[in-house]
Amino acid sequence: MIAPPFTPAELEAETERLFKALMHADCTPGRSWNYQACQGFAPLTLEINRLKKEKNAVILTHSYVEPEIIYGVGDFKGDSYFLSLKARESKAKIILFAGVVFMAETAKILSPEATVIVPDRGSGCSLADSISGDGVRSLKKLYPDATVVCYINSTADVKAESDVCVTSGNVYDIVANLPSRRILFVPDRLMAENVRAELKHRGVDKEIISSDGTCIVHDEFDVASITAARARFPGLKVVAHPECTPEVAAAADFVGSTGAMMKYVKNTIAPYFLMLTECGLVGRLQVETPEKNFIGGCRLCPYMKLNSLEKVRDALLAPRPDQIVTLDEDLRRRAARCIDRMFELAPKD
Ligand code: 13P
Ligand code: SF4
Repeated sequence: MIAPPFTPAELEAETERLFKALMHADCTPGRSWNYQACQGFAPLTLEINRLKKEKNAVILTHSYVEPEIIYGVGDFKGDSYFLSLKARESKAKIILFAGVVFMAETAKILSPEATVIVPDRGSGCSLADSISGDGVRSLKKLYPDATVVCYINSTADVKAESDVCVTSGNVYDIVANLPSRRILFVPDRLMAENVRAELKHRGVDKEIISSDGTCIVHDEFDVASITAARARFPGLKVVAHPECTPEVAAAADFVGSTGAMMKYVKNTIAPYFLMLTECGLVGRLQVETPEKNFIGGCRLCPYMKLNSLEKVRDALLAPRPDQIVTLDEDLRRRAARCIDRMFELAPKD
């Protein structure tokens, strides 16, 4: 492929912009965001940003993808809830979702007129891949009176079988306020356990039945490492995602969505933070709050890490069929109902 003609001055200015944004990032073992690395990113970020304008494309970036994507070419960055709102509002012809496939599917459900593309079709999710629409239908037969709640980390066919969708940021409030007592929660067993504990704490009586998925990143954190870290780093604040086990959640100082975790760290004064989540979120915090200390201990999501600037560029330039998200229209409409219900029920802040 012929290199796009950027002048030395354009390349230098872009390198400076990237270095200024990324110099504090240190979130993925074996990678760095020094000046030389930024020189390497610059031709790609310039090309991608030019392609976005030419093609009327918008790039949504989840906080777990690498920082050169988020800060180099992303138009919006955040958690699943924020990004689904942005997908719904978008008027762009093309939405490129740098995240995982279920997020891009959600964007397609909410913005059916747009061409929605993913950099890597292999970017699955252990939760979304743990149950299909058929699996939900079988569970519904066993519990016909239950309200079916699906975590947004699920496929479009699971959403189409569900009554209401939730994200890590609104799951407790939405489930607490549902009229029915019996809830069938898919696909995250650990989040279901955390919801059970939180509703008990709030004095809300619900029976929560769940399927058996877990997040391969968050289910690995354990209480022993929290205890060891607290002994080593006095004043440490432990911040966890609700996909962690209830034991880990109980041992943490704060539990919330990736968006809420970021807000908590930004608003909390502490000598050290332990982030029990994917390392990309630590990267965002290193970039946006370079004065804070993170003691490591985060984990990598192999699916999120399949995103790269090269794949973003190639998908924008000429998407392969496997990079374009397509959905059957009847299924899309049914899935949209359950996400719309979430927008109706989610607390407005
Ligand atoms: P958030 O919605 O909190 O960003 O979570 C998405 C996710 O995949 C967590 O593992
Ligand atoms: Fe799925 Fe876990 Fe990766 Fe999030 S971190 S995308 S839940 S596998």
